[in-house]
Amino acid sequence: MGVGGVTLAARGRGKLHAACARGAVVAGAGAVALLAVAITFSGSPLPAVLQRTFSLYETHSLKDMEHYVNLVRNIVPAPSAKKHKGQDGRIGVVGGCQEYTGAPYFAAISALKVGADLVHVFCAREAAPVIKSYSPELIVHPILDSRDAAQEVEKWLPRLHSLVVGPGLGRDDLLLNSVGGILEVSKARGLPVVIDADGLWLVAQQPTLIQGYQKAVLTPNHIEFSRLWEAVIKGPMDTKDDSGCVLRLSQALGNVTVVRKGEQDLMSDGQQVLVCNQKGSSRRCGGQGDLLSGSLGVMAHWALLAGPERTDSISPLLVAAWGACTLTRECNQQAFQKHGRSTTTSDMITEVGAAFSKLFET
Ligand SMILES: *[C@@H]1O[C@H](CO)[C@@H](O)[C@H](O)[C@H]1NC(C)=O
Repeated sequence: MGVGGVTLAARGRGKLHAACARGAVVAGAGAVALLAVAITFSGSPLPAVLQRTFSLYETHSLKDMEHYVNLVRNIVPAPSAKKHKGQDGRIGVVGGCQEYTGAPYFAAISALKVGADLVHVFCAREAAPVIKSYSPELIVHPILDSRDAAQEVEKWLPRLHSLVVGPGLGRDDLLLNSVGGILEVSKARGLPVVIDADGLWLVAQQPTLIQGYQKAVLTPNHIEFSRLWEAVIKGPMDTKDDSGCVLRLSQALGNVTVVRKGEQDLMSDGQQVLVCNQKGSSRRCGGQGDLLSGSLGVMAHWALLAGPERTDSISPLLVAAWGACTLTRECNQQAFQKHGRSTTTSDMITEVGAAFSKLFET
């Protein structure tokens, strides 16, 4: 595998490493992180060895970084005057209710700014005028709380390339029920779906909704990850082995791509674990996750269109996830440089264009 990283086929080392034992974890940084854990727990925490491991970790993570940046560049569609509107991505965002209108707006506008041509928001009736008033650039459908919401959305699916499900969804039973139906019709059409926030809450209640659907990408934070783990794996989580846990949850879901957001973002398709530790900032404002899910919605479409031959046989959705995480962190860093502690998600969204060019355009 031309990843330029370390390949580590972890062998079973008792219970702690049950997760790693299920698959070879490729990709330098992730593998070395696992190696570090393995060393710590094989009973001889040798400081010298650990130190070497960590310097190795840094070198490889830089090298990997360059490699992955190139893979993301490979999936970005080339600008062309011959294209018609919609070719670079028509994205749907499913979310927005009485309480939450910011999240679906952030996800939708991020998708547009990353390069989607059109973005549709499917939200509850009351949220629609609010979301429309934030931006004239979004197409807003006030249908999510209607009885036949899934059929209403289904009518639009032939025109969409991917769905982002969950930003500002809330936990109302009627809405969650509609979203369950929307996930079913999306799967039937083979549409890529990025699931975040209360969309993940729904998946934790009904894992069968996405079980084995390999065009789904889940983007849990720490709490959402624990909830999914509890729902799907049920046993205790090895808190010392984050990479192994992400790999294991992905496999348990039938190799659905899982992106665990955190101090470093870890993502797996059940075969590999990629790490994103692009510099961000200490600032964690609410809404950052929406920038990630919206940009991932677009990149997932681009990556699947490009196919594995353009992503060096790494799963296209994993490359898309890595690209969206890296972009989100770069936006955070750039916004923080200008605004410091007053940085908000709107400031980050303003940086999308510059951050994207800096990272992925040559
Ligand atoms: C998931 O990936 C692992 C590792 O490649 C493989 O052994 C397993 O069969 C896959 N599972 C499914 C459901 O595709």
